Amino acid sequence: MPRSNLALDGAQAAVPAALVSHDWERFRKSTQEEIDAVVEVLKSGHLSIAMGKGMPNAEGLEREFAEYVGVRHCLAVNSGTAALHCAVAGAGVGPGDEVIVPAYTFIASAMAVLHQNAIPIFVDIDPETYLIDPLKIEAKITTRTRAIMPVHIYGLPCDMDEINRIARRHSLKVIEDSAQGYGAKYKGKSTGALGDAAGFAMTTTKQLMTGEGGLMTTKDASIFERASMTRLFGERVDMNASDRAYASESIGWNYKMPEMISALARVKLRHLDSYVAATQRNADYLTSRLKNIEGLRTPVVPPDRTHSYYLYAVRVQTDRLASDLPPARVRDAVMAALSAENVKVARWQKMAVPDQPVFQRKQAYGRGCPWQCHGAGETSYETSEFRNTRAVIDDHFVVRSLVPPNSLELMECYAIAFEKVFEHLDRVLEIHEESSEAPVASEKTR
Ligand SMILES: Cc1ncc(COP(=O)(O)O)c(C=O)c1O
Repeated sequence: MPRSNLALDGAQAAVPAALVSHDWERFRKSTQEEIDAVVEVLKSGHLSIAMGKGMPNAEGLEREFAEYVGVRHCLAVNSGTAALHCAVAGAGVGPGDEVIVPAYTFIASAMAVLHQNAIPIFVDIDPETYLIDPLKIEAKITTRTRAIMPVHIYGLPCDMDEINRIARRHSLKVIEDSAQGYGAKYKGKSTGALGDAAGFAMTTTKQLMTGEGGLMTTKDASIFERASMTRLFGERVDMNASDRAYASESIGWNYKMPEMISALARVKLRHLDSYVAATQRNADYLTSRLKNIEGLRTPVVPPDRTHSYYLYAVRVQTDRLASDLPPARVRDAVMAALSAENVKVARWQKMAVPDQPVFQRKQAYGRGCPWQCHGAGETSYETSEFRNTRAVIDDHFVVRSLVPPNSLELMECYAIAFEKVFEHLDRVLEIHEESSEAPVASEKTR
């Protein structure tokens, strides 16, 4: 006799394997429309910049994405990190300048600052939303601060009015890291149009996924001009002119987006809203089913914004559960039980960004740069700070496969799995404590 109806005890999994087995493949498979667009570029032979003919797909994408976001300018580049770097450079951040970044984000937010030989200064997050806590920003502003980089983690826009107010008070630029923020709205406005400049990513599982790629948006012509030069060797190039001067005016990189990627992105952009809406439908349904489970915290969405659910995050609230195990152990036990039920769960970041070796050892350009080579003051990446970041890293995980074509049928099974696991939480914890293995093997997420 099984001891419970948990899959861990040998009972049938709540999610039929057939319903999930092809979910990744379905999600990643290109449509005929996408294949046709890429093949057309291949047939044309026009794969990158061609003087006199420009980059028609990259330029088309820039026009269309600028319109989608509601800004004047967009720059297509070859990664989200490049988009952020162009935004940082475009905003006039320079060597030794400081940029405020949340402690909970992907390393690329801070890397884009280091790439400009500038110094990331970290701020803790609000544990309810996983987003930079505006109340903690001003304490980190110094005479060297040039910009604030709010990151719309998991697809929820940051508290932009408050952040913009602080920025105005201290004459700082605001650079949104919207790598995960496609399709989300703050007070009716799109992410990417909420600060001075923004960067979007197109890698792995992003809502506008093309393999690799990035998009920078801004309403500011001078930011756009500097960012364009950063993209292309520090040159001022009119893509459609018949000749190129080859006269670099400053340091620049080669961040051009290939034409095949641009063509693919243009097709995906046409379907972005329906993709996000289907994900939101799945997320809303899941929340309606999970929100009353004691000890589980579903995503918090403040009333002035929408969530696009790049990832759907839940917290295990050990203070509401009859367990004195550390939160990370309870989280691992719950994840293991859900995995056994065929729910796709994963952990995203495993440490606060300032805890990563690059900051603890201050190893970037070498010879102390950027931390000591511009007469900058002492920067401390004190590990006892960022308590909220550490707490959420310990007690939350993400639920995958909310994206279309997955539908409410899968969400229904997910909800049943969660209900089962929390109903039998004692048994779940017992099994986990018995098995000497610590963390659950989770799918890699970025
Ligand atoms: C929050 C965040 N910022 C920046 C990036 C960087 O994008 P990319 O990997 O395309 O350089 C990513 C995604 O990878 C991200 O999730």
